[in-house]
Parts: sequence; structure tokens; C-alpha cells
Amino acid sequence: MQHTGEISQPAVMRRRILIGGDWVEAASGEAFPVENPAKRAIIATVPRGTAVDVELAVRSASDAFPAWSAVAPRERGRMLLQVADAMEARLEEVARLIALETGNALRTQARAEARISADIFRYFGGLGGELKGATIPLGDSVLSYTRREPLGVVGAIIPWNAPVLLAALKIAPALCAGNTMVLKTAEDAPLAVLLMAEICQQFLPAGVLNVLTGFGVECGAPLLNHPAIAKLSFTGSTAVGKIVMEAASQRIVPVSLELGGKSPSIVFPDANEDWVVEGIVAAMRFTRQSQSCTAGSRLFLHRSVFDSFLDKLTAKVSTLRIGDPLAEDTDVGTIINERQFNRVCGYIESGLAEPDAKLVAGGLPPTDGPLSEGYFVQPTIFAHTSNDWRLSREEIFGPVLVAIPWTDEADVIRMANDTHYGLAAYLWTHDIGKALRTAHQVQAGWVQINQGTGQSPGQSYGGYKQSGLGREFSLEAMLDSFTQLKNVTVNLTR
Ligand code: NAI
Ligand code: MG
Repeated sequence: MQHTGEISQPAVMRRRILIGGDWVEAASGEAFPVENPAKRAIIATVPRGTAVDVELAVRSASDAFPAWSAVAPRERGRMLLQVADAMEARLEEVARLIALETGNALRTQARAEARISADIFRYFGGLGGELKGATIPLGDSVLSYTRREPLGVVGAIIPWNAPVLLAALKIAPALCAGNTMVLKTAEDAPLAVLLMAEICQQFLPAGVLNVLTGFGVECGAPLLNHPAIAKLSFTGSTAVGKIVMEAASQRIVPVSLELGGKSPSIVFPDANEDWVVEGIVAAMRFTRQSQSCTAGSRLFLHRSVFDSFLDKLTAKVSTLRIGDPLAEDTDVGTIINERQFNRVCGYIESGLAEPDAKLVAGGLPPTDGPLSEGYFVQPTIFAHTSNDWRLSREEIFGPVLVAIPWTDEADVIRMANDTHYGLAAYLWTHDIGKALRTAHQVQAGWVQINQGTGQSPGQSYGGYKQSGLGREFSLEAMLDSFTQLKNVTVNLTR
């Protein structure tokens, strides 16, 4: 496997963190390695941030806040639009770095992530003028109105699965609304986010955006617990989401949480068609190794079409090319790291040990040959599983799909909802009445009918139940997540 990137850095890149407009080392001087999961090779080192760096970054963000919040909103937006332009000019560079550090395939995943991330800056950059308040009609002797004010310094923590997109989804709306930010990148994928920060820093005043690299407990926890943080915005596992909420409860600061999922895909009998098969592959995010919180990882197939649909699906899945993330003909890349790789393999082993479940695609990864060089796991499907089995209940965060037969409509909705998660749902039928009835009954924040992808700025996005709290991706989300409402009332008789 070979990559022919434009990234021609020295063998191991050395990156710095952004504090107060300066690119610096961690106060301790320590660094940690970033691995290319396709080759199990170290490609960079980044500063190992700790509480000292958090302190410096929060101070910078606090110092920058008064002036930044006083910039007229549309002027702030104009700077974000400049970021969007500059990112678009460097899309390929951003995309290659995403592919290199995450193992996500360049053609199917990383380029799209870079493009959507630039678009997120474009979308929120245009929304400065929408930070409007209202007037309350209390009669002619009173003027009562509301203002949308920023909260202050936002502490943001992101995961590695779509690092640039998830960072953009926090930076763009928070800054547009007049907040400043300290963002901690994920330890497995800090590089492309640091590149995006470099692009942002060309247009933003010093200290408005500060970006740290470091581990969860060492660097993330001090950020969660810093007394000057006015808002916490987190994307990642439900387990850490609970820690974020606990930290917020100590100081009564608002939190936004985008957490895990175990989303259902429901195929009705009339949808036994090729385009649905392609939609299921897209919904399962097989080309991102299913490392997606929205993966449609529980496939409910109507019993009447169960076998014939699965035949088509396994045939389709077998055409996906798995290999070097940077190669143009690769569809599927690698799992992010060894820990996740072992975890996913553990789920496959557990599926293989389940007497009734039938492996119809994939399986345990090869132990020799080119794919054993990296953390490659083939798209894997277990058929005839039960909705109660471990593989059907836990977020695997890897390419392991469970196919569950159903016959009764009420029963499939009950099974779909029988989970503590509630992020996405995918419904497949030409019967629009049936589709909408189901869409309204399913407990999920983001429902797709007859499509597996299609997330665009403007659509509010977020979870029901333990999949999260608050929304991202839209104007309403920006107003709810990154502003606070002040009411001002004037007695006009004096
Ligand atoms: P994680 O939730 O541990 O990591 C996400 C971020 O939180 C990282 O930046 C990490 O440094 C930080 N973090 C971890 N512990 C922290 C703490 N005590 N205080 C403050 N920050 C902390 O996710 P991880 O370990 O990478 O993946 C484990 C599982 O989480 C996956 O298998 C998957 O099920 C789930 N996950 C879900 C994601 C989603 O988008 N819903 C994204 C990534 C992981
Ligand atoms: Mg890595």
C-alpha cells in the first residue's frame, strides 16, 4: 500500500497548540504520538496538554471575550465566511490529513468531510443577522424586548470519528454568536483540526479560538471543571457525556451533548429493491467503518423479504474495496486505533459464538496479508439476530451490522424503540402514510425516509434519550446552544 499525497512532511510531523493566537508547546514540554492506523506507524507528535495549558487557554479566551462579543454579529460572520473560502481553497490538504490520521477513505469519506466542514462555516457565517431578539407587546407605556447574548467562554471536546466536521460544528456557531472557545481535540485525530485552526487563525482575533491537544483525563477534565467556562459542548461516548454533565452540574453551566447511537433501519416488504440496498450500506456508514454515531446498525428486515434482501445486501457489501485510505479506488479504510480494533473484533467473536446468529458477510479480520498491516475490519453482517442480544444493544462503533426479522408493524416499532439510545432512524418504503406514521412513532432526533445520508446545514441534529441533549447544525441550534436570552423592560412613563 502506498500513498501519493501532497503532504510531503518529514517522517514525523511536530505540531503545536493554539493559545492566545500563538502556536506553542505544552507547558510541560511533553508530547505524544499520533498514529496512521492504516500502517500502525507514528506520523506526528502533538503537545500533551494538561491543566496548566487549559488555564492559559481559558485565560486567553476570557481576555478575548469582551472585544469579540462587541463585534457586530454580521462582522463576526464575515470572518467565518473568510474561513470558509480559505478552507475551500485547501480542501484536498485537509482531506488528506483526515484520511492519514483517521484511516477514513479519502474518496468516500475524507473529501466529503472537508467540504461539509467548509460549508458549515459558510452557513453559520451567514447567520450573524439572525441573532435577533423580540419585542413583547405590553402596551404603549412599556418597551419590553429580548436580546440574544453570548454565554462567554465555551469549552468544547470532540472525538476522532469525523474530527474536522465535529470541530466546525462547535467553532462556527459558537463564534458567530459572540462566544470565544477552548477546544480540545481527540487524542487520535488532532492534526486536521489543528490545520483548520491554523486557517481560522488567519482571520480571527487572537484568543477567540484556542485549540488544545491532550488526553481525556489530563486535558479534557480540567477544561470541564474550569470555573471560567460558561458552556460545555461535547461530542463522544455516552459514558464521557455523563462525566461532562456531572461537571456542569457543579457550576450550573449549560451543556450540549452529542452522544452514541444504535439506530434502527426498518425495511418494509415493498422496499426489497436495489436502491434500498445501497441506502442501507450508506446508512450503516460502512465506508466510514461504521464509526458514526448515526450508523443504522440495527437492520429490521420484514420476514417476507429477509433472505432475498440479505442476498442482495451481502453481494453489494462484497464489492466494497477495503484498503489504503489514501488510494482513490478504496471504499473502506481502517478502524481508528488498536483499542477500538480489539473492541470491534471482540464483538465479532461474540457474534460468532452466538448459536442462532448466522454470519453472512465479513467476519474476523485477516491475520496476514496487506490488510493485517493496519486496523482493517471487513464489513460484517450477522443475520437472524435477536434485538435483545448484546450485539443488537451496544454501540459497536465498527462495521458490524445485525439483521433482525420482523412481521408486525407495532412490534418492529417497539423493537426499534427498545434501546436507551435515540439518535437516528432510517425507514424504507414507498408507502408514504406508513413511512410518516412510523417516523412520528420512532424515538429518534433525526429520521431519514428512503435515504441513508443527506445531512445538511439547517437541519437540527441531535439525540433523544441517552443519545444526547441539545441540537447542532441549524440556526435554532445556534440560538439554543450558544446564546442566552435577556429580557429588558423599560417603563416609558418616566
Ligand atoms: P470518548 O468519549 O472517550 O472520547 C471523546 C473525547 O472525550 C476525546 O476528546 C477524549 O479525550 C475526551 N475524554 C475522554 N475522557 C474524558 C474525561 N474524563 N474528561 C474529559 N474529556 C474526556 O470516546 P473514545 O474512547 O474515543 O471511544 C469509545 C467509544 O465511544 C466508541 O467505541 C463509541 O462507542 C463511542 N464514541 C461515540 C462517538 C459519537 O460521535 N457518538 C464518537 C467517538 C466515540
Ligand atoms: Mg490515529
